[in-house]
Amino acid sequence: MKILIIGGGGREHAIAWRLAKEGHKIYAAPGNPGIAEIGTNLHATGLDAAKAVDPDLTVVGPEAPLAQGIVDQFRAAGLPIVGPTRELARLEASKIYAKVLMQRLGVPTARFVLVENVEAGIEALSQFHPPVAIKADGLATGKGVIIARTIEEAEAAVRTLGPRLVIEEFLSGEEASFIVLSDGRRFTAFDVSQDHKTLGEGDTGPNTGGMGAYSDGRILGSSEVQRVIDTIIEPVISTTGFTGFLYAGLMMTSSGPRVLEFNVRLGDPEAQAILHRLDDSTDFAGALLQSATGSLREQLRSKFDPSVCVVLAASGYPGKPRTGDPIQGISECRAQVFQAGTRIGSRGIETAGGRVLGITASGRDLSSAISNAYAGVEAIHFDNMQYRRDIGRKGLKRWPPATIEATGT
Ligand code: AMP
Ligand code: GLY
Repeated sequence: MKILIIGGGGREHAIAWRLAKEGHKIYAAPGNPGIAEIGTNLHATGLDAAKAVDPDLTVVGPEAPLAQGIVDQFRAAGLPIVGPTRELARLEASKIYAKVLMQRLGVPTARFVLVENVEAGIEALSQFHPPVAIKADGLATGKGVIIARTIEEAEAAVRTLGPRLVIEEFLSGEEASFIVLSDGRRFTAFDVSQDHKTLGEGDTGPNTGGMGAYSDGRILGSSEVQRVIDTIIEPVISTTGFTGFLYAGLMMTSSGPRVLEFNVRLGDPEAQAILHRLDDSTDFAGALLQSATGSLREQLRSKFDPSVCVVLAASGYPGKPRTGDPIQGISECRAQVFQAGTRIGSRGIETAGGRVLGITASGRDLSSAISNAYAGVEAIHFDNMQYRRDIGRKGLKRWPPATIEATGT
């Protein structure tokens, strides 16, 4: 098939990598230098890009075009496309819409109050004990949520993020990303992954788009997976007819999984880890086309081997990143390098954005996957590269060390 990918980050490179491996012809708008090695980047956007190449299928990476209605436009033009309608993209684009739907369907989530102005927000804070989560209603690329530790911080957050807000109870536990592909009625799940949202090791520092991810069949047990499907995924899809990738950002609380947020696309960097782990027996392009045409039969099968993606970010990220630094070592790197914020400069490949590369590897256990990914990181250099050294480490507790046999003499 001729497949058009909308976007140009690490997630889109991972989608392109997988689909090229399955033998498909890849176009991307706008794409990136990594995608250019396995496909063709286009200058045109949206429907204009589709008119230029007449794709058999279009896959949308980021949320913004979905929220702007790209799926409705392509469908009106008779072009198969993977993703939700503009209406259902509100599951991500409006936190208020998502909370109201969850409440109506009884989907487990944090207790919350919706407010439409700052005064009501300040007043509503009396119903919570800090810490409390304050969330702006609209798309905010990860910057629309503040976890306030005191009432003073909460009031300041209401003023900063308002007027339209979700104020919700703080949930503690480990987070997990649960992503399915749906055709509007049926769905098939990727294995679970876990993101690392903050810049600093040990989950400290400012929030980012994601500094690394791993996917490992041990993050959730099979009964927990079933519970997520029965209480979250199934009710949302059967009620709304959602098509495309539905991503439930979960908090695994002591009373079971609860939804922190929905996204209407693959996560990034999660996509890099989960697509690296997708079993060769899966026809991913087939599953995508079936999602777009309402005929899903293919199952997404993950390999046993866990995978790890370490994001290499430019200095300054998540604020204004420094750009234009030459990147060395990509061709020597033995891990899979997914490109994101890169461009071709006069001296070759150089940094061009906040998250620059995703270094991704698998291994026979989580510890080996981590070692393989960091061995890949060692091969890469650009000035003032920032990355976390603890990607995947939280998962190691689910892999008890092998018993060391006594060696009698
Ligand atoms: P969201 O965009 O709603 O997923 O929020 C971004 C991040 O803020 C999440 O990944 C969590 O780390 C954190 N967060 C959001 N809501 C809560 C909550 N109710 N309790 C604890 N942490 C939260
Ligand atoms: N990595 C989180 C996201 O894609 O929203």
